[in-house]
Amino acid sequence: MNKTKVIFLIGVSGVGKTTVGKKLSESLDYPFFDGDDYHSQSNIKKMSSGNPLTDEDRMEWLKKINALAVSHVQNEQSCIIACSALRKTYRDILSSSIELYASWYFLEGSYDLIYKRMEKRTGHFMQSSLLKSQFQTLEIPENALRIDVRWSSNRIVEIIKSNGLKKAEFGVYGLGVMGKNLSRNLAKNGFVLSLYNRHLKGKEEAIAQQVKKTYSELYLAYTSDDLEEFTSTLQTPRKIILMVPANTIDEVIKQLQPFLAEGDILIDGGNSNYQETRRRMHELKSKNIWLIGAGISGGHQGALLGPSIMPSGDKTAYAQVKPFLEPIAAKDKNGSPCCSYIGPEGSGHFIKMVHNGIEYAEMQLLAEVVLLFRNMGFNPDKIATILDSWSRYTTSYLLEITAVILRKKEGKGWLLDHILDKAENKGTGSWTTISAAQLGMPSSMITTSLFSRFISFFIEERRLFSENFTPSQSPSKISLTEGDIANAYRFASIINHYQGFRLIKEASKSYQWKLDLSELARIWTSGCIIRSTFMESLVEIYKTTDDLLLHPHMIKEINALKPYVKKVVTEAIHQEWAIPAINESLVFLTSFSKAKSTANIIQAQRDYFGAHTYQRKDDPSGQYYHTHWQ
Ligand code: 6PG
Repeated sequence: MNKTKVIFLIGVSGVGKTTVGKKLSESLDYPFFDGDDYHSQSNIKKMSSGNPLTDEDRMEWLKKINALAVSHVQNEQSCIIACSALRKTYRDILSSSIELYASWYFLEGSYDLIYKRMEKRTGHFMQSSLLKSQFQTLEIPENALRIDVRWSSNRIVEIIKSNGLKKAEFGVYGLGVMGKNLSRNLAKNGFVLSLYNRHLKGKEEAIAQQVKKTYSELYLAYTSDDLEEFTSTLQTPRKIILMVPANTIDEVIKQLQPFLAEGDILIDGGNSNYQETRRRMHELKSKNIWLIGAGISGGHQGALLGPSIMPSGDKTAYAQVKPFLEPIAAKDKNGSPCCSYIGPEGSGHFIKMVHNGIEYAEMQLLAEVVLLFRNMGFNPDKIATILDSWSRYTTSYLLEITAVILRKKEGKGWLLDHILDKAENKGTGSWTTISAAQLGMPSSMITTSLFSRFISFFIEERRLFSENFTPSQSPSKISLTEGDIANAYRFASIINHYQGFRLIKEASKSYQWKLDLSELARIWTSGCIIRSTFMESLVEIYKTTDDLLLHPHMIKEINALKPYVKKVVTEAIHQEWAIPAINESLVFLTSFSKAKSTANIIQAQRDYFGAHTYQRKDDPSGQYYHTHWQ
């Protein structure tokens, strides 16, 4: 292999060849030559007076530069040369007799962009008026790496360097809608990628190549459906994000492992169970391979435009993937990335799981709000208008999309009225419920919302039961107002967030993760599904307390909102409307704010039939007692 290289930076005047060339020269320690310095006086004079050069004018100039390149190759010295080299014939002259040593980097940008840049440039003989003729002369090179000049010169230097190594910086395994969009996002941020998708005969064939072809921003990417080839195209230590369904992760890791080396880093970007992530981390660590468990929220749009990213695992391994994850993440209102190291083990996936639990309850609350309004006789358009009006005070992504959904028409009616009322799920809500139970946490809003989805699933039984258990006579007049519902919703949403963050606090304590609640709220203010103005206020609140319901402002607000939620729940009970999540928010606060509970009876019953013992109020030592009850 030739070690000596002649790096040609080509493109029309004004693309930044000289700036990139100088930086590249510093970085690679190769001498840099600016083609403009090799023009004859007559050429410079011609251009300075605004006249374009002809092929003939360029001939001597190109030969001079070729001689320069040849002399370097003869001395086994690499060099960097900036030269417009607009036509193929010019490039042939430039690389004549050193073809095998030449590599071409074509810096490209639109006419308007380059024109604006040239207008700002001073002290150069090439006038911006000549740019048109440059574009007319230009023949897009086929054998050059095309680089978008909108990237910073430092980034362009990195790309050229990594291309010199003929390796990609970052791998994406799995090109479903999330993987594909995340790849596009990474590519738009200037990363050289290697893309892999499995080969399934007749079903998934040459997917990576097709994706690359479809999206122009992926033009630098390597593509493959062969694991050995995929892994060989990556710089080491390899960094590969797995964008596959959570139930296939073990299999994917098993297939990848023979092609990985010590120090390589895998990122699981799916909704994996945090305990499984922890196990996988330990298994891989024994082979000196790192696994970063990264919760990613924001759906397919988020993946493309900026998701919220919740990475966890070994901190040093994370430091190596951070430069890729932070630029592609959503930005908060201060411009900081919504991607932050969460903590050790599977804490990132735990956090994403609870995020989804909060998401389930917020979705259920909005479904109940819509039910209340529909029962009050409002049509979907009217409800959408009401929801929009709430945005003046406080808003959320889920609130906004619900208004859009409500307005969607089909024929003369609304699409919503044609959607089967049977809610599915992919498991994260169940895991949150299971985890809450394992940690002994009353995360009842999440559980209620999950169970509401389960209830909806029994569609046949519901139809049958609706005939057997018809609503009893209910008051004909509905006494609710829009404001009652808005306030009840706000109350329930606060309780939901309280429970979600309380669960996280407990997990942090129990697993010694040292999680930062304010920082978690911050990375959930943008990009993710539960982003909201309330989440923005939680960033500040959790800086002062780790318990939302102990914050003076929240105490005041909850007390002010309570009468409304009571009114809404009472009306719903009378009317036999099912609003389990709103109801649960009130039940939870009522129970959780009682200094005395009914648990003394439970303890006595347990002791009666099982001799399980109980503690006494009048014995602060915490000693356990047993009574012979009969
Ligand atoms: C997100 C979403 C995302 C996905 C859920 C849906 O944060 O981007 O939560 O992860 O939409 O998996 O979960 P269900 O199918 O269980 O509703």
